Amino acid sequence: MWSSSHLKVLLRTLAADLHSCCRSQAMKASGKHLPKVYVTRRIPPDGIKILRQSGCCDIEQWDSDEPVPRSELLKKVVGIQGLYCLLTEKIDKELLDAAGPSLKVVSTMSVGYDHLSLEEMKKRGVRVGFTPDVLTEAVAELTVALLLAASRRLIEAVDEARSGGWGTWKPLWMCGSGLSASTVGILGLGRIGEAIVNRLKPFGVSKFLYNDVAPRHELAQKISAEYVSLLELAKKSDFLLVCCALTPETLGICNKQLFSNMKSSAIFINTSRGAVVNQEDLYQALASNQIAAAGLDVTVPEPLPTDHPLFKLKNCVILPHIASATVETRNAMAALAANNLLAGLKGESMPKEVPLK
Ligand SMILES: NC(=O)c1ccc[n+]([C@@H]2O[C@H](COP(=O)([O-])OP(=O)(O)OC[C@H]3O[C@@H](n4cnc5c(N)ncnc54)[C@H](O)[C@@H]3O)[C@@H](O)[C@H]2O)c1
Repeated sequence: MWSSSHLKVLLRTLAADLHSCCRSQAMKASGKHLPKVYVTRRIPPDGIKILRQSGCCDIEQWDSDEPVPRSELLKKVVGIQGLYCLLTEKIDKELLDAAGPSLKVVSTMSVGYDHLSLEEMKKRGVRVGFTPDVLTEAVAELTVALLLAASRRLIEAVDEARSGGWGTWKPLWMCGSGLSASTVGILGLGRIGEAIVNRLKPFGVSKFLYNDVAPRHELAQKISAEYVSLLELAKKSDFLLVCCALTPETLGICNKQLFSNMKSSAIFINTSRGAVVNQEDLYQALASNQIAAAGLDVTVPEPLPTDHPLFKLKNCVILPHIASATVETRNAMAALAANNLLAGLKGESMPKEVPLK
């Protein structure tokens, strides 16, 4: 049985669809061509609904959960005005050349934009949308979960319980390290870094340190965090959390030098981008117990091959890039990316636009 609220929602949706359908039919009848938009993946419902109901673009979509092959993408972008993409698509000179001068806007359903060649876009006057803020809470929450999984050895413990390794209660078995009275270091005190600090405070952390391109005095004072050099961050942190953007400067910044300066009891967590870490150096640091454990949500490559040496280490927890994966967050990201795209097509100000310097 349909309730009256269900019927109301259904009627509203039908009315919106009819409205957008009439609008696009009217545009077609008047001989005007709708701007062509290519969507590179099956995206959460809120995003595609916004694009369809706008009635102001002609949408083609790679309707799959798997990425569009590069050769197909290069064909599909020819002559489009708008591109809705994900972090899996490299939007570089080759792709922009293939799209041609009609391309006005690229909207990525991600906050990170290291897969976009901003310089090439600037040269061509292509505007860029991204999805900051709406995913901050989910990513911060997952970072805390990953930290606890690595520091309290949760995955190892579950494996032991399941596989018969759980003997009698032993005072020294499965001990990890706690957050209480610890020093937490944040590499990259941006939106997500700040949200992580706020979530970790109730655990009784005694000191928050951070390193960034420059001190962020006002924010640091608000959350009681102290600016230190990268070397000091490595030396003093019990937990080192990487939350910076991937840039030419941060590429491989977490390397042998950083790990060799960390405490042997330290836990290393990365939820930013895999390429900020030199994985060979991390492997050596973990295998030789130079550091105690690591938690990674991001790797190079993705997916990380199942026979990768990092998967063989008990002190390394690896997640398949799920930091923003809540239903609400993914819908909010999809909707924001759709609204960015539509605003860009209309030449209006975008809800969240990447400034092209
Ligand atoms: N794992 C995931 O699913 C996931 C989800 C969302 C975001 N991310 C990653 O997290 C990053 C941060 O997101 P955000 O919203 O907090 O972005 P943000 O721009 O608010 O923060 C990034 C911070 O990194 C700092 N930074 C840049 N270069 C640096 C350097 N050389 N040394 C130290 N710090 C430097 C910036 O100054 C900034 O404070 C994104 O760029 C993205 O790559 C990952």
